[in-house]
Parts: sequence; structure tokens; C-alpha cells
Amino acid sequence: MKTQFEFLKMKQANDKITMITAYDYPSAKLSEKANIDMILVGDSVGMVVLGYDSTVNVTLDDMIHHGKAVRRGAPNTFIVVDMPFMTYHVSIEDTLKNAKRLFQETNAQALKVEGGSESVIAVIEKLTEAGIPVVAHIGLTPQLVNVLGGFKVQGKDQKNAERLIKEARAVEQAGAIACVLEGIPSELGKVITDQLSIPTIGIGAGIDCDGQVLVYHDLLKYGVDRLPRFVKTYADMNHTIEQAITAYINDVKQLTFPAQEHTYALNPDTKL
Ligand code: KIV
Ligand code: NA
Repeated sequence: MKTQFEFLKMKQANDKITMITAYDYPSAKLSEKANIDMILVGDSVGMVVLGYDSTVNVTLDDMIHHGKAVRRGAPNTFIVVDMPFMTYHVSIEDTLKNAKRLFQETNAQALKVEGGSESVIAVIEKLTEAGIPVVAHIGLTPQLVNVLGGFKVQGKDQKNAERLIKEARAVEQAGAIACVLEGIPSELGKVITDQLSIPTIGIGAGIDCDGQVLVYHDLLKYGVDRLPRFVKTYADMNHTIEQAITAYINDVKQLTFPAQEHTYALNPDTKL
């Protein structure tokens, strides 16, 4: 398993860090087998696996449930687990209690929190101080979708670009071990990446980030329909799976399944 120190060295060597989300045993197992550098148990599970419109319905118990399955599938990969909506905007005691459960029960290497506001900076400091490595996430932060007014690119104008640069510096200062940059102009992704000593992991943030992350179901085109501009699909599982299920249905209807090789026989001396 790579460590956060190796990710730091990879940044320094300009060796790109690869990250993918996973939500269950098979997705984790295949990602580890393909040699991914890090796995994110994203709260995107709410959208791509559980069918919600956003990530705000995802609970701490959901994240623990999926995080445990991912750990079983990828015992030798650096795993980051998302703290879900409103579980780190409560009192610092409750935030620590939530983080402790999520970190311990999933056996994760780090937790991720969204945002760069003062209160989130304080959370990053507190968790780090307590011994929980934190990955930050700024730019388009999906847990704020209802405040941002949709899934919109962030940091396009002077004021907001400068704000995001400040937030990036602040999360590093607070102790974050890496920072996800989501949905920002590529020029801004480069400036932030150059200014930070911790690795940046981009999603819709351009080629200059120290690493890239994609959602498992997006890159496989698996159960998803409309995809954002920043996604590249590497397979078409929608088509593959639909075709397979259709073929199965046809086989059953036409009595071509089960065939001889799929069936069991009695012992020769058994009489019915
Ligand atoms: O939940 C998620 O999948 C994420 C990535 C998009 C970074 O947070
Ligand atoms: Na997330």
C-alpha cells in the first residue's frame, strides 16, 4: 500500500497519482487488481448506487456500510472515505465522534471533507490533531449543491478564483494531506497545484493537477446516463449488461438455457 509520503514524493517527481471511487467489494477488488494508487469511498454512492439526486441524503451509516465492503475488497490500497453531509458541521465533539466511527469501522487511511470555510478548516485541524489524516475537497463541492444553485463550475471570475487559492492554502496549512479540486478552470487547477506542497487530485480541474479522480460508474458508463464534460468513459457497461440480460431472457424463453452442461444428473442406480 502506498502511503501519504509516497504521494508527496509522486507530486515532487511529477508522477501522476491515480484515484477512483469504489462503493462495494467487486469495485474495490477490481480497482486494487488494476493497481490504482488510491480509492475514494465517495458519498457519490448516494447518486450512482443508491439513486438519490444529490449526496445530501447519504448518512454516516451508509458510508460505514460501503466503506467496510470496499476495505474487504481492497485490503492493500490507500482508502479515503467521505464524511457525508452535515456530519462535520455539528459540534466539534459530535464531529470527532462521527469521524472516529467512520475512520475506525472502515479501517480507512484518511477521511475527506468538503469546503474551505473557516469552520471546515477548524475540522481539518482537529481531525489531524487527533490522528486522522484528512483529504480536503474544494471548488465544486456537491454537498453544497442546494446553496451553489446546481452542479456548476466554480472559480471562473477573479474574486472566486482568488478565494479558492486562499482556501487551498488554508487547507494545506490546517494539515490536509491532499486536496481534491473539483469543477474549476484548468488554469486555476495549475496555479493551486503549483502553490501547494501537498498533492492536488483533480476532477474537472485540468491536466496539471498532481493526480486525477473519476467516479467508478462514470468511467465505466455503468448505470449512469448523462455525464458531465469532465468524464471520459473507458467502457460501456450499460450496453454490455443490458445485452447480457436480454440474451439471458431470450435463452430462458427459447429453452436454450439451462443446457446439459448447466444441469445435474441423478446417480445411475437411482430410480424415481
Ligand atoms: O464522492 C465523490 O465521488 C467525490 C469525488 C467526485 C471527488 O467526492
Ligand atoms: Na464526495
